[in-house]
Amino acid sequence: MCGIVGYIGYEKAKEILLNGLEKLEYRGYDSAGIATRDDNDVTVTKAKGRIAELRKTSDNDIDGQVGIGHTRWATHGVPSYENSHPHQSTSERFTLVHNGVIENYEELRDTYIPEVTLVSDTDTEVIVQLVEYFANQGMNTEEAFTKVISLLHGSYALGLLDSEDNDTIYVAKNKSPLLVGIGDNFNVIASDALAMIQVTSEYKELKDQEIVLVQRDKVTIKDLAGNIVERDSYTAEIDASDAEKGVYDHYMLKEIHEQPAAMRRIIQAYQDEQGNLSMDSNIIEDVKKADRIYIIAAGTSYHAGLVGKEYLEKWAGVPTEVHVSSEFVYNMPLLSERPLFIYISQSGETADSRAVLVETTKLGHRSLTITNVAGSTLSREADHTLLLHAGPEIAVASTKAYTAQIAVLAILAQVVAEARGRETGVDLLPELAKVTAAIETIVDDAPKMEQIAKDFLETARNAFFIGRALDYHVSLEGALKLKEISYIQAEGFAGGELKHGTIALIEDGTPVIALATQSHVNLSIRGNVNEVVARGARPSIISMEGLEKEGDTYVIPHVHELLTPLVSVITLQLISYYAALHRDLDVDKPRNLAKSVTVE
Ligand code: M6R
Repeated sequence: MCGIVGYIGYEKAKEILLNGLEKLEYRGYDSAGIATRDDNDVTVTKAKGRIAELRKTSDNDIDGQVGIGHTRWATHGVPSYENSHPHQSTSERFTLVHNGVIENYEELRDTYIPEVTLVSDTDTEVIVQLVEYFANQGMNTEEAFTKVISLLHGSYALGLLDSEDNDTIYVAKNKSPLLVGIGDNFNVIASDALAMIQVTSEYKELKDQEIVLVQRDKVTIKDLAGNIVERDSYTAEIDASDAEKGVYDHYMLKEIHEQPAAMRRIIQAYQDEQGNLSMDSNIIEDVKKADRIYIIAAGTSYHAGLVGKEYLEKWAGVPTEVHVSSEFVYNMPLLSERPLFIYISQSGETADSRAVLVETTKLGHRSLTITNVAGSTLSREADHTLLLHAGPEIAVASTKAYTAQIAVLAILAQVVAEARGRETGVDLLPELAKVTAAIETIVDDAPKMEQIAKDFLETARNAFFIGRALDYHVSLEGALKLKEISYIQAEGFAGGELKHGTIALIEDGTPVIALATQSHVNLSIRGNVNEVVARGARPSIISMEGLEKEGDTYVIPHVHELLTPLVSVITLQLISYYAALHRDLDVDKPRNLAKSVTVE
């Protein structure tokens, strides 16, 4: 969702800000803007649409060495010039960028600034006007900013410029992500280390409701009472090339291709010196103590959780429920006596999942976050973290995070099974090696997936994905992938469920993609395919070696049946990619979507 960058140093800020914003494009946005301050003035440039528009609009002569920038994903007010950030106070003394949602902005507006004419529909403008209001009451900028922070309810990451001070960016956050990057003779702020990785890899985490003064040669962190807080920096383990597309046309394609490498990294990261699978013993203890696991996640991560449940129950022997976070938070089921909550989130920032974590922590329940982003909010706030080691995922459509999540859940279940002396019948390490090789085979077969996309989806208005058992979970993910990037209305169904209603939608030529990788349901899923074919559907069956039948569209290499989701999903990711590509759509940045969903 919204992204923030800021720079203070001795270089021209404009270019650094625009480059940083481009690196944040993947988070999703519909307008963007920057503000830079030179010796005399603050110049604000904003544009609806892409950063490229903002580049065209911004004056080449803008000279400031201090600046803030923002990509906005509309929450309060439509995407427009007026609603884009940065926002300014009436006198234009203060300029602000904001990521998040202020819940009490109307109340604050009515209490403190009823006379002020607001030019936008945003909650952000209220914040910057409040800073001016308190400054006009005689407070210095730090005091006014601190006062405003103490009044705000909701989520925010803020960067504030004062036109009377060329030496400071005022920064604070609550629930929304924001980091300070430490440079040599300069400092930066960014929603995500990736945005500024070209200029520095040293970062300081910020905690909620701290007041941070970012200056050229120092960063001062204070609590709300004004006490200085010492904080070490850390080195972000991101390669600058991770933020580039390299030889690929799209990040999504690059990330699909990166899955074998991600698998290898995971296998390595969760092995001990003897070559056995292993992880933090405190995590294993917490899983062993739990009488029930509750997996909480959204979207693709939820789909990975559905697969992970199978491992946790079958191998580790712990009853497991999987819940959509946005529902769970408002409709919590009766919990078991010793629950363990597992939060699955690529970004580690999903607000819906965080809202559940806040509640379950209040209730005193243990938590584990499985995420791709070290230091993310869900990682910091849970008792434990397991990292995905997938490398930054930039395309909005999640691909390598899904397979990494499933692999880490499988390893977790396996190490817990071993710790409990349970026999799983699966030698996971060699099986994951086979999975890796199978993924490579499918990635090499990308032209075949392109052909399937052309044959089955080129003119389709809708499509169905069906499967049984584990294949059902993968069909949900396949449908999500297709709909989010190709805008073809797609649904995933349990093969046996279609005839209870949905089969009424099958018409002549409706594409139905069926997964057949599970021996115990192979005959029944094929029976379901026959049912839809009898109603005019065009079927495409993706099966597995050993279970294939004549006429199957694609046969994946043989892997352990419980691990097929790691492999069969690659075919669906590629088919979706090519379906969107052939419709000439913006594959990496589909409409209306954000990579990191930081509002509930
Ligand atoms: O960062 P998270 O994994 O928590 O994000 C959850 C969903 O928003 C995400 O998985 C979304 O469904 C994918 N981008 C879809 O490809």
